[in-house]
Amino acid sequence: MVCGVLGLKTLRDMRGYLEFLDEIGWLKRITVEASPILEIPEVLRRIMYRRGPALLFENVKGFPGWRIAGNLFCHIDVFRKSLGVERLEDVGRRLISLALSPPPMGVVDKIRAFKDMMSLSRYLPKKVGSTPIFENILEGDKASLNNLPVFKTWPGDGGRYFTYPLVITRDPDKETYNMGVYRVMILDDRRGVIHWQIHKRSAESYRKAGESGLERIPVAILIGGDPATLFTGAAPVPYPMDKYLFAGIVRGESLPVVELGSGLMVPAYGEAVLEGYIDVSETAYEGPFGDHMGYYDKPMDKYPIFHLECIYMRSDPIYYGSVVGKPALEDAVIGKAVERIFLPIIQMMFPEVVEINLPEHGVFQGLAIVSIKKRYPGHAKKVMMGLWGLGQFSLTKMIVVVDHDINPHDINQVIWAVSVNVDPQRDVLIIPGTHTDALDPATPIQGYGSKLGIDATRKYPEEYGGKEWPREVEVDEDTKRLVDEKWSLYGLDQGS
Ligand SMILES: Cc1cc2nc3c(=O)[nH]c(=O)nc-3n(C[C@H](O)[C@H](O)[C@H](O)COP(=O)(O)O)c2cc1C
Repeated sequence: MVCGVLGLKTLRDMRGYLEFLDEIGWLKRITVEASPILEIPEVLRRIMYRRGPALLFENVKGFPGWRIAGNLFCHIDVFRKSLGVERLEDVGRRLISLALSPPPMGVVDKIRAFKDMMSLSRYLPKKVGSTPIFENILEGDKASLNNLPVFKTWPGDGGRYFTYPLVITRDPDKETYNMGVYRVMILDDRRGVIHWQIHKRSAESYRKAGESGLERIPVAILIGGDPATLFTGAAPVPYPMDKYLFAGIVRGESLPVVELGSGLMVPAYGEAVLEGYIDVSETAYEGPFGDHMGYYDKPMDKYPIFHLECIYMRSDPIYYGSVVGKPALEDAVIGKAVERIFLPIIQMMFPEVVEINLPEHGVFQGLAIVSIKKRYPGHAKKVMMGLWGLGQFSLTKMIVVVDHDINPHDINQVIWAVSVNVDPQRDVLIIPGTHTDALDPATPIQGYGSKLGIDATRKYPEEYGGKEWPREVEVDEDTKRLVDEKWSLYGLDQGS
């Protein structure tokens, strides 16, 4: 099916994406033998520090039959093109238009509402009967996590890690699906530890399962998929929206899914699916792991154990892993895509928000710069507190708020606003005793620290001792016109 303004076909799977990358010159094939243990991760990092391209390793040491893809999110424009949209914000708007249709009041409205329902159904997951994933089914002794070409990314890592697994769970209350990218450390042939942090959606389903007396929950881990599905795993989709529905909205059409023996539905066109379960009362230590903060995580923590029962995989499977470390690597591009797609959704809740920048080197949850159309005293702090109350935005350590005419993506403009508009005693907000990203190396207690807000907006008299804010310098129109007209006479544009 042809979809999207760019007239692209919706990509069905990772192979389709690799072909697309090849066509546009963003894929490099590597034929020399290379190992997933430290070597391939280091190559991926070096190439990502050069901003791509994506790589396909065709000769994987120790894992015959497998190929490995990496740096699939090498550039935000490449990802955008793969979705067939002119702007990533259009994806967020697609979601809003589905959610915000006014209720039908008359006949015309009812017809329109019917059309809206039809457009929603266009994005609902669609069950298919067969899929190439069922080409090989490995059970019993043949199913081993150790036989998969899983990376060891840093020398001090506690083991080999799935670094871009799509971990699939079903919410016990709402029956909606979650699909999250949470690293999984291999313990042995049949067990891995899933690092879903306490604030994440699957951790919530796991908690609910325990509370409702369930002893086991079925879990599937998907390797590979089309770019929209891969992205959805890392996207902070508000609970309880179904992640398969969200994937359909990002794809621009329904996500095909297939049913496993456990009854879980999984995306049909991955490269491999690991089927298993979690025993709700069981946890194990995981780590250390060299994370996207640029440090090994401190200290090792306990997380649920995934028990592998069966592996389904294509005959010529392609493994996909991401590599994190000091920025800016692949996860920074994914963070930027989140920033763009979720901007319209944030603006729906906070109409005063004009732009947001989550700088790549701010490791996504370290720093947010937000510009607002300020309308009243205290407005900047209202926005900070609102954002800190919002889903995964609540993990953001520092928020800087600037006026609408400052471009948050121009760091020099932001430095100017912070330097000249801020009186630290009045404009710096430190909130002690807040939850934080568990990976933050700076907090004295893991997951518990503080927040910093900087109000770099111009101040109203109420915020400025009753005085008017100073007038900004600006050239007058006559002088501007005079200098424009005489510009060539000054001889300043000629080569020296
Ligand atoms: C490469 C990569 C690795 C990630 N690893 C983890 C992880 O180990 N644990 C975690 O909680 N979140 C991790 N994340 C972030 C989650 O994928 C993200 O918060 C997502 O929203 C989680 O899904 P959920 O909102 O459905 O819980 C990772 C993201 C990326 C891009």
